[in-house]
Amino acid sequence: MTLHRLIRYFGRKPRVSEWIKLYSKPKDVILDPFGGAGTIVLEAVKLGRRAIYFDLNPYIVLMIKGLIKSLTLSNEMKISLIKLGKFLIEARKRIPVIKIDNERHSWIPSNQLYKINSKVVKYVLWQNYKPLKARTIDGNYIDVPESWQNFPYEPYHSYPKVKIWYGKKPFYTRRNVDYIHEFFTKRNLVALSTLIYDIKHHFRGSRLVRKLFEIAFLMSLYKSSKMARLSGGSWPVPKYWIPERHVEFNVYSVFLNNLRRIKHFLDKCEFLRVKIATINSVLQRRAHLSISQGDACQLPLPDQCIDYVITDPPMLDEVQYLELSYFYLAWLKINPPFDKEIVVNPMRGVDERTYFSMLGKALGEIHRVLKDGKIFTLIVHDEPTIVDNIISQAENIGFRLIRSETVRRFRALNSRLGDEYEAYLTFKKVS
Ligand SMILES: C[S@@+](CC[C@H](N)C(=O)[O-])C[C@H]1O[C@@H](n2cnc3c(N)ncnc32)[C@H](O)[C@@H]1O
Repeated sequence: MTLHRLIRYFGRKPRVSEWIKLYSKPKDVILDPFGGAGTIVLEAVKLGRRAIYFDLNPYIVLMIKGLIKSLTLSNEMKISLIKLGKFLIEARKRIPVIKIDNERHSWIPSNQLYKINSKVVKYVLWQNYKPLKARTIDGNYIDVPESWQNFPYEPYHSYPKVKIWYGKKPFYTRRNVDYIHEFFTKRNLVALSTLIYDIKHHFRGSRLVRKLFEIAFLMSLYKSSKMARLSGGSWPVPKYWIPERHVEFNVYSVFLNNLRRIKHFLDKCEFLRVKIATINSVLQRRAHLSISQGDACQLPLPDQCIDYVITDPPMLDEVQYLELSYFYLAWLKINPPFDKEIVVNPMRGVDERTYFSMLGKALGEIHRVLKDGKIFTLIVHDEPTIVDNIISQAENIGFRLIRSETVRRFRALNSRLGDEYEAYLTFKKVS
């Protein structure tokens, strides 16, 4: 279980060890200003380098920081994770709700929420707004009564009621629904809003474990939504889209399963165990890794402090990282810094020209923080418009292209998209 398999971030997962070995030496400080799921910095640390990570997206920074930090949890704590999860769920005997017909506050027994005829349901299959069949946790298929469809309650605890629009224009990735809460059945909204409330207010554990529970909650959102399908738990189409046939999973099973996946990651990835420190202590060679949320166009780094830069920036309009991460961030009431994102997005008025000019700024920052005569590798789509444009921008800033290699693309999430190639452009800082 690797970190990016656990998180299932949308970004590409470049293979970089060959480049890191060739263009840096042990103890060098390596920078990735578009860090995503952290593939590059973790590889660098594994190879004995020191690494500085930035990404603009608060969601991915929160996820990887929390998960890497929790690798330091004691074995005892790791073993009790699932027990603590079950305890949190079972301690909640009654769930506060609002009755839809009279808007009165009421309570429902929590162990009834996912029951049909005394059987606990693992998921319900829906088609065109109608429940078709349910599967129980002991593996049987049963019919779904009318009452399942007419769940008469709203959540009492808060949940995101925000729109996936920028004022008058929809998100670029929006397809058939307008609000975050419309991606969930009322039943799952009730379960999710109570679960996050309990994690925040009733969880008795260290701050680190609470953070891990928050991460397991965020990991559960996609599968608990109407975007979920039976095959696979990831987000296969990077759009806000509810398919005609979708699955309503039992939120508690999904959440506990994610705690199990986290535990598996913590057991298997001991070798990634590294202390996350401040940028300064990495620069002063006192620590190995720093992870910060930040804008690649304005790096909080002194001039000429980095030995090697290797990075994989967003490509044109390929993935709308912040739009898609809003699905998670809205639950934490965090607003993404949309205006700083380097991505083509017609709904925000960011065209290709603006995209290249923002990317140019980031290249300028990389040039400023890299030591003279040192190397910088940029991973981009192997398309002439992109490659030519970036090479000429980089050369205008003071880089000279010393190597260009085409590599078959590796997709972490969607291998069905066929063969695509990436260009690994390597430059030297010459002036
Ligand atoms: C292609 S992904 C990087 C994927 C990464 N290699 C990985 O292993 O997951 C590009 C990243 O750039 C980030 N990004 C976009 N605009 C940015 C900016 N102005 N500053 C820093 N990061 C930015 C996105 O949030 C996204 O995570």
